[in-house]
Amino acid sequence: MLYKIPKSFINELLINTNIVELISSKINTIKKGKNYYSICPFHNEKTPSFSISFEKQFYYCFGCHVHGNAIDFLINYEKMNFIESIKELSFLNGMKIPKQNIYFKKYLKEENLHNTLNTISLNYQKNIYKEKNKIAIKYLKYRGINEKSIKTFSIGYSNNIKNVSKNYIKKNKNFVNNLIKSGILYNEKNIVKNRFTERIMFPIKNLQGKINGFGARSIFKKIPKYLNSPETKIFKKKENLYGLFETYKYNKKIKKLLIVEGYFDVITLFQNKIKYSISILGTSINTNIIKKLFNICNTLIYCYDGDNAGKIASWKTLEISLPYIKDENVLKFIFLPKGEDPDSIIKKEGIKKFKNRIKNAVPMSKLLFKKLLKKNNLSNPEEKTKFSITAISMIEKIPGKTIKFFLKKILGNKLGILEINELSEYKIKKKNIVSSKKKKKILV
Ligand code: UTP
Ligand code: MN
Repeated sequence: MLYKIPKSFINELLINTNIVELISSKINTIKKGKNYYSICPFHNEKTPSFSISFEKQFYYCFGCHVHGNAIDFLINYEKMNFIESIKELSFLNGMKIPKQNIYFKKYLKEENLHNTLNTISLNYQKNIYKEKNKIAIKYLKYRGINEKSIKTFSIGYSNNIKNVSKNYIKKNKNFVNNLIKSGILYNEKNIVKNRFTERIMFPIKNLQGKINGFGARSIFKKIPKYLNSPETKIFKKKENLYGLFETYKYNKKIKKLLIVEGYFDVITLFQNKIKYSISILGTSINTNIIKKLFNICNTLIYCYDGDNAGKIASWKTLEISLPYIKDENVLKFIFLPKGEDPDSIIKKEGIKKFKNRIKNAVPMSKLLFKKLLKKNNLSNPEEKTKFSITAISMIEKIPGKTIKFFLKKILGNKLGILEINELSEYKIKKKNIVSSKKKKKILV
C-alpha cells in the first residue's frame, strides 16, 4: 500500500507557513489595507491585480483568476512538483517530513539521479575546455555556437575513455553505480563502459533546471549521429523537451512556442534572440507532448525539417492536435525548403528571413483544407462526398466552438452549401446509420 504524506502534516506545514512572507521573498509586494498586492507573476499586466491574504493564507489574481495556497504557489511559480514544494516548505519551517513515506523515498531516488547527472555534467563542461579536447570547441565553433550559448545550455564533452578502469570503480563504487543507473555508463560482460565516448553533451533539463538526461552528438561521424540517455526513472524520451527550461528562464510569460527537431536548431535560434524554441528529441510527435505543449502556451508553431518526413510530421501533428484545439489556441506550421532545418536555413538566409517565416507560418485551417483538397478537385458528387466525410470528421474533433464554426463555414463554401446546418444534419444521419447497425447486432 502506498503511504501518502499525512494530511495532518501538510496542514501543520501550511499553518506554520506565512504565505505573505513566502511570496514577498520572491516577488515585490505592497500592502494595501488588509491584503498584499503585486503584479501577477502568471500573466502579463501593468497594474497589480495579484492579491495575497494573510488571514486566508491564500493568493488570488483578479485578472487571470489563478489562486491557491503556499504549496500551489511553489508548484506554479517555482515549477516544483508536489513533493518538492512540501520539502521546500518543511525546510523553511525547520520541519521534518515523516520518513516512512514511500513518495518521499521515490523523490530521494530521483534526487540521487539528478545529483549524479549534475556532477557528471559539470565534468563534461570542464572537459570541453581542456587542451586535449580542443577538437570539441573547434567543432562547436564550426557549428557557429558561441561561448555564451555553451554556458547557457551547459554544453560539455565526454572524452575518449571507453572503458572505466577497475581501480576507478573500486575507489568510486557508489558514484559508478549511480552513473550506471542514470545511463552514463553501462555494464557489458563485466566491463564497465562509457556510453557517450567522444560526443558533445547536451543536458536535457527539467523545468527547475535539474538534468534528466543527455543528448550526445558524435563529432567523428560515428553512428548513430545522436545518442540519447536510455530511459531511466527520470528520463522519458517521449516526454522530455529540450530547451524548455531555458525558455521558461528567459520568458516571464511564454506567449508562443516554436517546436523544432534538433538540439542545434534550438541553440541557433536562441543565439539569434528567438528564445522560445524547444526540440522534441527526435521522437515522433505524440499526444502526451501535444497536451503538454498546449498546457504551456496557447500558440504553437511547428517547424520540422524540410524533408518528406517533416511534411508527414506536420500533418500528423495537425491530426492529433485537433481534440485539444480550444478557441484561444493558435496552431501554425512552417515548411522549410528541401534539405534545410532551422539551424541551416538561419545560417544561409539570416535571422530576418527566418522571422518572416515565423510571421507567415501556415495556419492549421489552411493546411487542413490544402491537404484534403490536394487529390480532390470536387468535380463530382462522389469526390465532394469523400472530401466532406473526411473534413467533417476532422472538424468535429475540435472542442473550440468558434473555430469549429468558421471551419465548417469554409467547408460549406468549398462544397457550395451555404447553410452550415446542412452539414450538421449529415452528421446526425451518419450517427443514425451507425446506431441502427448496432441495433441489428443486438437483435441477432
Ligand atoms: P537530424 O538528423 O535532423 O539532426 O535529426 P540535426 O539536429 O539536424 O543534427 P545536426 O545538425 O547534423 O547536428 C533531428 C533530431 O533527431 C534526433 C536528434 O534529437 C536530432 O537533433 N536524432 C537524430 C537522434 O536521436 N539520433 C540520430 O542518430 C539522429
Ligand atoms: Mn541540423
